[in-house]
Amino acid sequence: MVTATNAAVLSHPPQIEGANFLNLLIVDDDRAIREGCREVAQSLGFNTQVAESAEQAYRLLDSSGTDAVLLDMRLPGASGLEALHTIKKHRADALVIVVTGYGTVQSAVQAMKDGAYDYVTKPFSMEELRLLLERVAGHLRLKTENRVLRETIKSRQGFGNIIGRAPEMEKLYRIIAKAGQSAHPVLILGESGTGKELVAKSIHFAGAFRNKPFIPVDCGSLVPTLIESELFGHVRGAFTGATHPKDGLLAIAEGGTVFLDEIGELPTDLQAKLLRAIQEKEIRPVGSVRRVPINVRILAATNRDLERAVAEGTFRRDLFFRLNVLTLRIPPLRERRQDIPLLVAHVLERIGREAGNEKTISDEALKALLNYDWPGNVRELENSLERACALSSANEIQMRDLPTQIYSAPIDLMGMSQPANGIVPMAEMEKQTIMNALTQVNGDKMLAARLLGIGKTTLYRKLKEYESQNWAVGQSAGARTGG
Ligand SMILES: Nc1ncnc2c1ncn2[C@@H]1O[C@H](COP(=O)(O)OP(=O)(O)OP(=O)(O)O)[C@@H](O)[C@H]1O
Ligand SMILES: [Mg+2]
Repeated sequence: MVTATNAAVLSHPPQIEGANFLNLLIVDDDRAIREGCREVAQSLGFNTQVAESAEQAYRLLDSSGTDAVLLDMRLPGASGLEALHTIKKHRADALVIVVTGYGTVQSAVQAMKDGAYDYVTKPFSMEELRLLLERVAGHLRLKTENRVLRETIKSRQGFGNIIGRAPEMEKLYRIIAKAGQSAHPVLILGESGTGKELVAKSIHFAGAFRNKPFIPVDCGSLVPTLIESELFGHVRGAFTGATHPKDGLLAIAEGGTVFLDEIGELPTDLQAKLLRAIQEKEIRPVGSVRRVPINVRILAATNRDLERAVAEGTFRRDLFFRLNVLTLRIPPLRERRQDIPLLVAHVLERIGREAGNEKTISDEALKALLNYDWPGNVRELENSLERACALSSANEIQMRDLPTQIYSAPIDLMGMSQPANGIVPMAEMEKQTIMNALTQVNGDKMLAARLLGIGKTTLYRKLKEYESQNWAVGQSAGARTGG
């Protein structure tokens, strides 16, 4: 029933709680509909982006954290279902609401079967759209809450979960306990997979502020503008798409810890801003003149040689000294082989618990694990055991269940075409090295690129080349990609 009061509410609908953290992409070739939807979504508090074609939509999906898509099923030059599939491929998590024309309910049914979240038929009223978007926001909020909860549970389990009795590890525990008692920054160094994040969580949970947030930020995986707005926040209108203000993580973590992972990847201008934030204990959101006080503990980690980066001028010396008040160096697994049996037991116990059975390992297989070099450290050990358990239905893991590189020479010259003169072309060597690295890290391309000392894009380009040469790329690559 529409009364004077609720009619007023309808014409100025209240913002949906939490909607200003949600990004909605509106895809429609009809400008009037696009803008109409945008207005409604913005009035509800959504951050919005618009696209007039499927192609434009795909590009936007790649560059921003889209949570939901309002997709017109009738776009010029693209089938609606195809567009839906492609969107789902780009961002599996995004909720897609399809907009169908009158009398095409059949395509809406198919879209729902193919993973659309909901549908609406044209023409629709503002109130219909509003109810739909409210449902979307509710769904997304629940998803986020679940994730935060899972992360919190995971982080709590992280405390005290570091396995290892090697003398270097004992030393590490003492430093962690001490670091927990202070509020100074700590720089955590270690190769990939040595447990830097695990150690950071342990420091947080060893401290007095363990009930405050622990927020990890991956400085390596975000584009610079996004890291800046993630860390410092932004005001409305700070850049295209910033339709609503957003608090920075350094402020949100109030009283807790921000863990800056891959700090070595932070662009130089942001290094300067971070230094100022730490020194002055305040931040300036992007586009704002106001400063916001912060009270947060900074932990940072990197697998890069920061001292060298400082010497080469790619990392600021002053920031390095700020972060480096306390340094923790986690030894690579090959330097503490005595911990391998303990770690194996720990991982097998976990896998067995999850699968509801008991897994053991043959002496011969354990010996192979002890002799291997573990370039991907504890993470690689975990992956190898998980793979072995998945491959074998028996309760005891055998040598043959382990990844080949663990019991064979790392470079397989047999697999190469051997020319008569015995000289292997450089390109062939390179190919083999890359494929070997990928196998060793279970297909984790980010890690492989890092271990090979080449850029991620270079690796992707090479793999594309091999693919076009009909190389069996991806056969060895496991479930993990990118990272
Ligand atoms: N000492 C340890 N005891 C038990 N588990 C460990 C240990 N070290 C690492 N792990 C496990 O290995 C995996 C990788 O650890 P983590 O993510 O902390 O490593 P990382 O150094 O941050 O790696 P990357 O550089 O690749 O980000 C996690 O599943 C973690 O729980
Ligand atoms: Mg890490």
